[in-house]
Amino acid sequence: MTRSIADRTRLNNGTEMPWLGLGVWKVKEEEELLRSVLTALDHGYRSIDTAAVYGNETEVGKALRESGVPREQLFVTTKLWNTEHGYNRTISAFEQSLDRLKLEYIDLYLIHWPVRNQFTETWKAFTKLYEEGRIRAIGVSNFQIYHLEELMASSGVIPAVNQIELHPRLTQKPLLNFCNGHGIQVEAWSPLMRGRLMDEPLLARLADEHNKTVAQIILRWNLQLGIVTIPKTVTEARIIENADIFNFELPDDAMLAIDALNQEIRTGAHPDFFDLPK
Ligand SMILES: NC(=O)c1ccc[n+]([C@@H]2O[C@H](COP(=O)([O-])OP(=O)(O)OC[C@H]3O[C@@H](n4cnc5c(N)ncnc54)[C@H](OP(=O)(O)O)[C@@H]3O)[C@@H](O)[C@H]2O)c1
Repeated sequence: MTRSIADRTRLNNGTEMPWLGLGVWKVKEEEELLRSVLTALDHGYRSIDTAAVYGNETEVGKALRESGVPREQLFVTTKLWNTEHGYNRTISAFEQSLDRLKLEYIDLYLIHWPVRNQFTETWKAFTKLYEEGRIRAIGVSNFQIYHLEELMASSGVIPAVNQIELHPRLTQKPLLNFCNGHGIQVEAWSPLMRGRLMDEPLLARLADEHNKTVAQIILRWNLQLGIVTIPKTVTEARIIENADIFNFELPDDAMLAIDALNQEIRTGAHPDFFDLPK
């Protein structure tokens, strides 16, 4: 059971990844990004989740350097964007991300979306970069079960992580069970459903009962399900609030009641349709 912000999960290749990280999607303004990353690192966060398409890798790298936190303590995730699939393009997109971040290696590199007929070639480049020691763990994002099956059958390499949309309105049980059964660590994006669950009555009642906030109840539910979580906030009080989730425990009936809030509602694209013309 996770008891501290310093706790990490051991991925299927032995790499250790913090259970809690800071998401930085849509944080574009340099000042705001520097402030939120530095604040998070100050409060014990060590994991930052960015992506090439977020347009802020340069600023993330700058904040990491300014923080003075030793590189080996940090856990940096970035992602390959949809236009960069294919073996050679992947290698060059990776070099560009590294260049912008000004890092020697990436802790976790993810295929951002499962672009059809392309991700298996891309995965070969991921595997090569991993074997060269330039990435500590390789994984995917927004992969459904059939994407994972195709990837594993074509390469024999099991991704370390699948980062997916997951919150109380989209609990992803079949995919979660599949990943757990194959040693793939699930990581929740939009864990707070982008702030839309704050008035949900059951969550509000649990928050009252545990003397916590709705956000803390959701993030604790993630941890107790064995899910890595990366809430995004640029607000200092919320950075602190979202990390204050290691000193209480939700009982089984509360866990099940939160699971029952599932309505299959997504805030983002569906992985089966994200790359079709709108
Ligand atoms: N792989 C993918 O395809 C993918 C897709 C989407 C997101 N992601 C990753 O996942 C991260 C998190 O997802 P997200 O940014 O979409 O949504 P989220 O973390 O569910 O929600 C972020 C929103 O909730 C607010 N918030 C944060 N903490 C709060 C609290 N304690 N109380 C009330 N409101 C709070 C934030 O506001 P303020 O910032 O104004 O405080 C922001 O508006 C992203 O930043 C990104 O790194 C990955």
